[in-house]
Amino acid sequence: MELDMERIPKHIAIIMDGNGRWAKKRFLPRLAGHKAGSETLREIIETCGELGVQHLTVYAFSTENWGRPDEEITGLFNLLRGYLNTEIETMDREGIRINAIGDLTGLPEDLRKQIAAAMEKTKIHSKLQLNIALNYGGRDELLKAVQQIASEVRDGTMALSSVTEETIDAHLFTKGIPDPELLIRTSGELRLSNFLLWQLAYSEFYFTDVFWPDFKRNELINAIKEYQNRKRRFGKL
Ligand code: IPE
Ligand code: IPE
Ligand code: MG
Repeated sequence: MELDMERIPKHIAIIMDGNGRWAKKRFLPRLAGHKAGSETLREIIETCGELGVQHLTVYAFSTENWGRPDEEITGLFNLLRGYLNTEIETMDREGIRINAIGDLTGLPEDLRKQIAAAMEKTKIHSKLQLNIALNYGGRDELLKAVQQIASEVRDGTMALSSVTEETIDAHLFTKGIPDPELLIRTSGELRLSNFLLWQLAYSEFYFTDVFWPDFKRNELINAIKEYQNRKRRFGKL
């Protein structure tokens, strides 16, 4: 089957999983898996750009990942620092807008500044928006939305009767971003792990046993082909 260029999903979300197992299989440290995973991300971003995907949202660090050893957390953040550093010029040149979603206040100060600078530098672009989920948790996102809406209602700036699904959308980290049509999770795990709980309500799910570092261009194309074979019904007949 050929890829139908008229039906490329506008928004693809990815749970980039399996870096650790990829490394273990090769008798390498886990961090080598994360490094290889960052190279895959570069290729996937490039491919999404070529295919005309408008939003790519990737799960890079969850609110639960704080439970990992300090050494791994530090390694992941260092990798991200290096990645932003080396990739920013290319992304700027290629028309990619960088955005971060999640509770950024929980991140190291310098990384937060680096992310803010990358977002500022690329905010004029609209070809492809890369949403990096960092210190992101779907429940945390919904909790923060509820708290904010409740305080607006309490202060009288919003009427309870005017709270709608759109109000909730507008209070999420993903405000203004359309819901993903396609969610991909690599490495054979069949769960959401607290990713985009609200936004994935009607997305198509694609699971593959391939570990994230091995999820290259063709794997993405296969996922999109399978998506194009699905019949989305949205509860109708
Ligand atoms: C995904 O790979 C990357 C992050 C969660 C940061 P893992 O590190 O979860 O790899 P596995 O699941 O242990 O193989
Ligand atoms: C989900 O993967 C988080 C990211 C990919 C950043 P995990 O490896 O942390 O999820 P679990 O622990 O298998 O559910
Ligand atoms: Mg994992």
